[in-house]
Amino acid sequence: MIPHPLPRSYGRRKARKLRDQSQRAYDDVLPLVELNPEALFPSQKVWLEIGFGGGEHMLAQLDQNPDISMIGCEPFLNGVAKFLTHLSPKDYGRVRVWHEDVRILLEKIPDGYFERAFILFPDPWPKKRHHFRRLISKPFMDELLPKLKSGARLYVASDDAPYVEQIQDVLYHHPVLTLLDGPPSPDPSTWGPRPEGWPPTRYEQKALKAGKVCAYMVFQRK
Ligand SMILES: C[S@@+](CC[C@H](N)C(=O)[O-])C[C@H]1O[C@@H](n2cnc3c(N)ncnc32)[C@H](O)[C@@H]1O
Repeated sequence: MIPHPLPRSYGRRKARKLRDQSQRAYDDVLPLVELNPEALFPSQKVWLEIGFGGGEHMLAQLDQNPDISMIGCEPFLNGVAKFLTHLSPKDYGRVRVWHEDVRILLEKIPDGYFERAFILFPDPWPKKRHHFRRLISKPFMDELLPKLKSGARLYVASDDAPYVEQIQDVLYHHPVLTLLDGPPSPDPSTWGPRPEGWPPTRYEQKALKAGKVCAYMVFQRK
């Protein structure tokens, strides 16, 4: 069980005031694509992105995979507005946005629902006294993994070596997961480039520009 109240795992819910275009997208488009957990997509090819930021990865996946539906979770208003500004009306029917903490949503999702899940560059919370805020932890995985179909894939990336160590501790030998791809250790010198076909994200691009390397991991639910 995830503890209640939930420790906050995200930073700000809102940054600067939205520009007119983003405010319009937020006001006009969000009501069309906001997730109602009582009216989920039929569970066939539904992919989940947790913490989609500005949505670059989700937009690319929608573009590359015309037969899937996606649910994106993001509490950060400026990120949601940015995503909605770029979302094509032709995709409104196959996208749902959960503008809240994913952990509140998971309680409402049937087991075996998602075919893929992405957790790309979760907030690293580098200070030791903030480690309890890190999203990828055993209790969180106990909530998320049952929601994945058997054979579903889980994609995780991070540029923060101490967090990669925690992620590897939680996931590499998890009894319901098989590691398909990922670096052998939390030492950045063992990390390779982003796998082909894996769209970039804004956070990742900033990290690479700052000279960092990133760890990319793919798991399969048994
Ligand atoms: C470091 S940013 C990375 C954003 C994006 N994935 C990227 O790579 O550009 C992490 C994101 O996860 C979101 N986040 C953190 N905790 C979350 C939670 N419990 N549920 C949903 N999103 C969360 C934050 O709001 C933030 O936008």
